Amino acid sequence: MTEARTVVILAAGEGKRMKSALSKMLHPLLGRTLLGHVLAAAAPAGADRTLVVVGHAADQVEAHLVEVAPHATPVLQAEQHGTGHAVRIALEAAPEVNGTVVVLNGDVPLLRGETVTALLEAHERAGAAATVLAAEVPDPTGLGRIVRDPAGGLERIVEERDASPAERGIREINAGIYAFNGRLLRAALAKLTSDNDQGEEYLTDVFGLLAAAGEPVAVHVAADFEETLGCNDRVELAGLRGRLRDRVNTALMRSGVTILDPATTWIDVTATVERDAVIDQNTQLRGATRVGTGATVGPDTTLIDTIVAAGATVLRAHAVQSEVGPGASVGPYAYLRPGTRLGEKSKIGTFVEAKNSEIGTGSKVPHLSYVGDATIGEYSNIGAASVFVNYDGVAKHRTVIGSHARTGSDNMFVAPVEVGDGAYTGAGTVVRRDVPPGALSVSGGPQRIFEGWVESRRPGTAAAEAAKQANAAAQAARATRDQLHVTEDGHADADAPGDTSSE
Ligand code: UD1
Ligand code: CA
Repeated sequence: MTEARTVVILAAGEGKRMKSALSKMLHPLLGRTLLGHVLAAAAPAGADRTLVVVGHAADQVEAHLVEVAPHATPVLQAEQHGTGHAVRIALEAAPEVNGTVVVLNGDVPLLRGETVTALLEAHERAGAAATVLAAEVPDPTGLGRIVRDPAGGLERIVEERDASPAERGIREINAGIYAFNGRLLRAALAKLTSDNDQGEEYLTDVFGLLAAAGEPVAVHVAADFEETLGCNDRVELAGLRGRLRDRVNTALMRSGVTILDPATTWIDVTATVERDAVIDQNTQLRGATRVGTGATVGPDTTLIDTIVAAGATVLRAHAVQSEVGPGASVGPYAYLRPGTRLGEKSKIGTFVEAKNSEIGTGSKVPHLSYVGDATIGEYSNIGAASVFVNYDGVAKHRTVIGSHARTGSDNMFVAPVEVGDGAYTGAGTVVRRDVPPGALSVSGGPQRIFEGWVESRRPGTAAAEAAKQANAAAQAARATRDQLHVTEDGHADADAPGDTSSE
C-alpha cells in the first residue's frame, strides 16, 4: 500500500531574465506552457493532491491553472523568499499532508512522466527520507551541485554561488525535482535558515539537514540529462524548443510517419499524426491537430486545432479549427478559418479563403474565392473568383448551395440566398434571389459594344493606335478571304447565355 501522494510545483518565481510581462511559467513551448509541461510530467505520479505555489503574476498563473489543471490548488507565496520557503508555505496550506511529497520546479519542461515515476519508485522502495533527481551535465553553470560523501552517498546540495572552487568543478547537478517523506520534510523546513549568498530559504538545504540527522537521503540519476534542463531566458527557451521538436519528430518517425525535413517541422506535443502520413518541410501542427493515415501536409503549412482525415492533401495552407475530410484537397495557398468542414474528396483550391462553411462530398471551390457562412451540397462546383457575400454590415447570413450545382465564375452570392440542386449560374451573376433546382440564373444587362469608341474618344493614345492596327489587319484578312470565296460561320454557340464554372 502506498501512502497518499502530494505534488508541489514551484511557480512563484519572477523569471527576471525572460524580460517579459508574461509569467515565465506561461511561455509556450510546442503545445503547452512551461508549467503545463511540468503538470503533464507530474500526472503519472497519481497524486491525490496537486499544489501549485504561485506568487509573481499569480493572477495569470491561477487563470491558466483553471484552464489546464482545474484539479490543482494554487497556494499563494506573496513574497518569494526561496524554494524552501515556497514548499513550507505549500505544506502550511495543506496540514493533512504527510505521505510522499513530490516537488518539482516549474521551469523544467522537458521532464518526462516516466522519470518522475522512476524517481518516486526508487524513493519509496529505498524508504528514503528525501531523494533528489540528479544529472551529469556538460555545463553546470548556475545550478546546484550534488556533493557526495566518500562512500558515494549524498552529503548535501550546494548552490553555485555558495560553492567552493572544488565544488564548482562538480558536473552532477540538482535538477530541481525531488521526492520527500512528507512528515520529515515538514520538520526539516521548519529548521531552514537564510544563511546563504541570496538570503533565501533553500529547499536544497533540507538534504544536508536530513543527512546530518542520520536520515537516509538518496540521489536518483536521470537517464537523460536533457530532461533536467531548466529555462531562465528566451535563448534557453529556444534551445528547449529545438530539443522538444526533435523528440516529438523522432517519436513520430519511429511510429511510421514520414517527416521530410525534421529541422523545419514543428509539431506540438498535443498533436497526433497517424502512420504513413507525410509531413513536408516548413510545417507546424499545433494544438489539438490530428493528421490521419496517408495524408500529406505541407510544405509551408500551419494547422491549428485542425483535423485532416486519411488520404487528404493540404499544401501551403493555413488552417484554424477546421476539418478536412478523407481524400480532400486544400491549397496551394488556402486559408481555412474556424468552422470550415470539408467533405470527402472535396476541394478548396488556390487562393481560396473559407470560414464557418460546410463543403460536401466531392464539391469544389478551385480558385480565388471567399466562402463564408456557406453550406454547399455534394458534387457542386463553384466557379473561379466567387464571393459568398455573407455580411450586410450588421449581421452575417448563410448561403446554401445544393448538390450537383454549377455556378459560374465571378459570382456574388448575396446571403441569405439559396441555389437549388442541379442549378446553374452564368459568369458574373450576382445571386440575390434564390435559384430553383435545375434553373439557370444570369444577371446584369446584356453586354454592350461601342464600336470605334477608343479611336474616336481617345485619339493618339497607344490604345487607339493598337486598335487601329488590329482593325486594319482584320479588314485586310477579310478582303483576302472574300477574294478566295471562303466563307466561315464566326458565331458563337447561341445556347449558353453565360460561361459556367471553371474546372
Ligand atoms: C534551483 C535549485 C538548484 C537547482 C535548480 C534547477 C534551490 C535553492 N536551488 O535553483 O539547486 O540546480 O533549481 O533548475 O532550490 N520559486 C518559487 N518561490 C521562490 C523561489 C523560487 O516558487 O521563492 C520557484 C521558481 O518559480 C522556479 C523554481 O522555484 O520554478 C526554482 O527557482 P529558481 O529561482 O529558478 O531556482 P534556481 O536558482 O534555478
Ligand atoms: Ca531556475
